Amino acid sequence: MSEAFESRAFDAVDVIRTKRDGGQLSDPQIDWVVAAYTRGEVADEQMSALAMAILLNGMTHPEISRWTEAMIASGIRMQIPRDAVGGRPTADKHSTGGVGDKITLPLSPLVAACGAAVPQLSGRGLGHTGGTLDKLESIPGWRATVTGDEFMAQLRDVGAVICAASDDLAPADKKLYGLRDVTGTVEAIPLIASSIMSKKIAEGTGALVLDVKVGSGAFMKDVDRARELAQTMVALGGDHGVRTVALLTDMETPLGLTAGNALEVRESLEVLEGGGPDDVVELTLALAREMLTAAGMEGVDPADKLKDGSAMDVWRRMIAAQEGDPDAPLPEARETHVLPAPADGVLVRLDAYAVGVAAWRLGAGRARKEDPVQAGAGVVMHAKPGATVRGGEPLFTLHTDTPERFDRAAAALAEAVTIAPGDSRPDLRPLVIERVG
Ligand code: URA
Repeated sequence: MSEAFESRAFDAVDVIRTKRDGGQLSDPQIDWVVAAYTRGEVADEQMSALAMAILLNGMTHPEISRWTEAMIASGIRMQIPRDAVGGRPTADKHSTGGVGDKITLPLSPLVAACGAAVPQLSGRGLGHTGGTLDKLESIPGWRATVTGDEFMAQLRDVGAVICAASDDLAPADKKLYGLRDVTGTVEAIPLIASSIMSKKIAEGTGALVLDVKVGSGAFMKDVDRARELAQTMVALGGDHGVRTVALLTDMETPLGLTAGNALEVRESLEVLEGGGPDDVVELTLALAREMLTAAGMEGVDPADKLKDGSAMDVWRRMIAAQEGDPDAPLPEARETHVLPAPADGVLVRLDAYAVGVAAWRLGAGRARKEDPVQAGAGVVMHAKPGATVRGGEPLFTLHTDTPERFDRAAAALAEAVTIAPGDSRPDLRPLVIERVG
């Protein structure tokens, strides 16, 4: 903790009142309240009240920027000097979370295969969206924790590391996020933006691409709020010396044809083999191009690295470096159950949130941080919007080790689809809706 952030004590109630009455918090107030909360000197109930006042009254950009700085200063700020990682520029991607969002898995080795270093500190899933670490942990032997030296060596030798963030990285955010989760204050844009950006800035990346999801399966249900979040985060990146751009991308429907840990690893391997669902390939390439441009490597075409197998080579080395066996069979659920299409026609809607809830109920996700997840559980979709389906033919296959979960998963999917007469065309928005940066 730097001295600048320690200098002066305030009364927590005064800080709360300032924001409650629509005022602007001063830099010293922000520095103090974040640091004192992290140390346990500001009580949870006081921080809850402040978070609610921020949700209701907002923050100015200077306040959000200072709040982010104070969260970074609550822990370590990593440095990744270019000469320590073989001269590679660093670039990372962060997604605000969606259903079937396995993009990090093919993207990180792909961008590393193009010559950048990708430091990806990731999290586990909570609720209806899956976490990258949960997906990778379905690979036999793979471990999420690496030491600082291993992290730097892997970045230099392989080019990509996906691992758990250490407890020292933005500890204020860990504490505050847990509190927001149980006080109805997750949705405040200043708090979401500072939470995400404090971790990404502290991680030490030089360039950052944000995938801000919009739709039923995302935090942000509408484009206007997603744009506001994206603009806020892009500006925070600029304030703190990280070249940042954001894509707003569709999350009305799940990404790809799978939701669930090992199922999504399998689909990611298809992409790395040069195949895979069109939407997963499209988004992987769009984000890879943005990461390379932000890292100053515009001339490199990532599509070539998928085709020529070099992204797959990096994947194999990246998994093996963390003791995973890239050749081991992936776990499969013990039981499956097929749900048929209810009618003939064109699938015009497949709701991301419903699929996420079904996968979660099957055991792919957790309700509390400490719950285990089933590696093989999840949902396979046999059609995506725009496809013609036939009544009675498989629409979903549910996977779980615990078949007593089938009924609740099927109930989540009961209203998930709309099938329209055969000549209908779904009104689909593009996968990449807008670029902010
Ligand atoms: N992800 C984060 O890391 N923080 C938030 O506040 C929301 C999503």
